This record gives sequence, C-alpha cells and structure tokens, in this order.
Amino acid sequence: MRKLRDNIFHVGTAGANAYLVMGEKTALIDTVREEYADVYIQNIEEIIPVSEIDYIICNHTEPDCSGAVSKILEINPDIEVVGTIAAIKNLKEITNTTFNEHIAKNGAAIDLGNGAVLRFCIVPNLNWPDTMATYSENDRVLFSGDIFGSNYICAADNSEEFNDALKAYFDDIISPFKPFAAKAVEKISLFEIDAIYPSRGAVIENNADAVIKKYAEWSKPTSNTVKTASVFYVSEYGYTAAMADTVCAALSDCGFEVKRFNAAECDAEEMICALNASDALAFGTHTINRNAAKPIWDIISSLDLVNMKATPCMVFGSYGWSGEGIQLIHNQLAMMRLKPFEKPFGSILKPSREKLGELERYTRKFTDCTLPTARG
Ligand SMILES: Cc1cc2nc3c(=O)[nH]c(=O)nc-3n(C[C@H](O)[C@H](O)[C@H](O)COP(=O)(O)O)c2cc1C
Repeated sequence: MRKLRDNIFHVGTAGANAYLVMGEKTALIDTVREEYADVYIQNIEEIIPVSEIDYIICNHTEPDCSGAVSKILEINPDIEVVGTIAAIKNLKEITNTTFNEHIAKNGAAIDLGNGAVLRFCIVPNLNWPDTMATYSENDRVLFSGDIFGSNYICAADNSEEFNDALKAYFDDIISPFKPFAAKAVEKISLFEIDAIYPSRGAVIENNADAVIKKYAEWSKPTSNTVKTASVFYVSEYGYTAAMADTVCAALSDCGFEVKRFNAAECDAEEMICALNASDALAFGTHTINRNAAKPIWDIISSLDLVNMKATPCMVFGSYGWSGEGIQLIHNQLAMMRLKPFEKPFGSILKPSREKLGELERYTRKFTDCTLPTARG
C-alpha cells in the first residue's frame, strides 16, 4: 500500500496498479489478477475493511485488472460494481455471478462525499472494447486504465528511460487502436489533469501534460507519400528467390518503394516494422513436406490485423509436385481477412523465362487493386 494523496492510496500488486479513493464513501478503482487477490486485499485492509467499501470501479475488464473482482464480491456482496455497459456484461462472464450493477455513462459521476467526485469518461477500445477512464475532480487525477501505462516501473519523469517504457507500451498495446487513442486524448483534454494514475506501470505525478502530448503525437494517422510494398520470401535452391526478383522489379516499375526480405535471414524486428507499414505485401514460399516455409508463417503471424485488414497481398512460390505451401499461405491470409490476390502464383521447380514473364504480368495486375488500403 502506498499513499498517493490524502484520500488516494495505491493498493495494486506486481504487474497491476489499483487505487482506493476515500470520501465519506469509498471506491476501489480496478483490481488485480485473481491469483494476486490476497495481497491486494491485504493492501486495502491496511486502510479499510473490504466489507465497508461502497463501489468498485472497473475502467476495463481485462483479467489483469478485473480478476480479483470476484474475491471482493465474496467478501462484500453489497458493493456496487461500476463500469461501462460492455464492462458490466463482461464482468458477469468473469465473475460468473450476479452483483449490484452501476452502469457508468459518459460524463456521469459518483459523489463520494467530502468533496470527492469521480467522473466517467468513456474511451472505448483501449485496448478492450469496454474501456473508460475515471477522473477525480477535486484531486485533478485521471485514473486512465491502460492508456498512459508503461511496460515497467521507472520514475515518470522526462528521462529517456520513461519515454521508452511509455512508448513500448503504446506500441505493444495501444497502437493498433490509434484512431481511438486520438479520440481519447481529445476527450480527456477537457479535464484539467495534474496527475495520471494508470492501471499499468509508473504513476505520473508531475508531467501529465507532456505525456498526453506524446500520446497525441503518437496517435496521429501515418500516411505514406510514396506507396510501399514489402516482399518476403524463403528459397532453398534459388527458384522462389528468382520469382521474388521478378515481383520486386514489377512492383518497383509500378511506382512502389520496394523492400525485399529473405525471411530466413533478415532481422525479425525490421521485417515486422516493414510488414505493418506497407501498402501492399507479397509472400513467396516453396513447399517442403506439404507445408509452407516456417519463416513465412512466422512473418504473417506478426501482421497487425486491426490496421492491416484488407491490405492487398499476393502469394507466389516454386514447388516440386503438390505445391501446398503457396495455397496454405494464401488461405491463411484470407482467413485473416486480408485480400490475397486471385489464385497464388506457382512455378514447378525452376521458373522459365516465360513463367517469369507471366509472373511479371500477374504482379502488375495485382498492383491495380492496391489502392486504397485500409491502413490508418
Ligand atoms: C525435403 C523436401 C521436401 C519437399 N516437399 C515437397 C512437397 O511436399 N510438395 C512439393 O510440391 N514440393 C516439395 N519439395 C520441392 C520443393 O518445393 C522444390 O524443390 C522447390 O522448387 C524449391 O524451391 P526453392 O528453390 O525456392 O526453395 C520438397 C523439397 C525438399 C528438398
């Protein structure tokens, strides 16, 4: 337990922050993983018995923040459980029980007495559909849920270390939902915020404004002035590699800035970065024992399906007799709701000059359907 303000206490455990806000009435904001419930409850009871708490406010229901709600309900079945409509629905599935529901509407508040007022601000999809933030008016503190969280605890100052922790968390958790983050920043900017108490990582006491500005910047949509295409391939005897040469040349001729990756050799981080920043994608794989090459499976498993859905993509590759590799990758991309072009383009063993000419025409045709993309 850590006292943050006269009436606000940190009662979280390793990995998750949770807070207790005292007025005449008392509110818990967020909980922790179910397995840490005992420590969490001990922390709370250093201040007040759980049985005397009036509200439990769930800013979102990811189980690292909501897992211990059921333990609180076991001790205090009369407590009011507060969350968005979606959060209350999820909490029923997480606690597998009924409870006193209190639906938090955007702009509504709970008055705890003694001047303590908690106002709700609904900021959906960050990173669960049911997210909101809770603003303590008298303290000018924003309990932000996962937004403004960081990957590990370090002092929340202007240091590079904190910036990196904040950015790493943004990239991992928030960046697939950039348009929602931008809206959230707009919405919470209506509050005067002195401090941000997120559900993960450092408590931000002194530089809330700077942190909010960073989020505003990171949430801006990116748009490539030049269209970019990334080509990933794996090739044992050079046959699929020769096809990749043709695909790259055709894409480049059609005005794309092309990045070419031998997926068995290139740096994974660099490939993933290019993968999720491309306007068009091409995947080349041979077939080995009826399967596609593992590095190609690996790279498509890193696709950001929220922002890259409907990105045009094509599949090509050499095979010996049955050619399952290209079809498997094509099918997987379709399952992921990207738009794999026509049928995958295959060559039996070494592609002939004619075959490469056919592949060039296929690639040019593919580029006709590459705009607009869904990337925001
Ligand atoms: C161990 C091994 C297993 C293979 N299994 C298949 C297979 O199941 N189906 C198929 O169509 N080709 C199979 N092949 C053939 C390759 O897909 C073919 O040689 C292809 O041209 C290799 O292309 P690359 O030079 O781009 O690696 C196999 C090749 C090897 C070496």
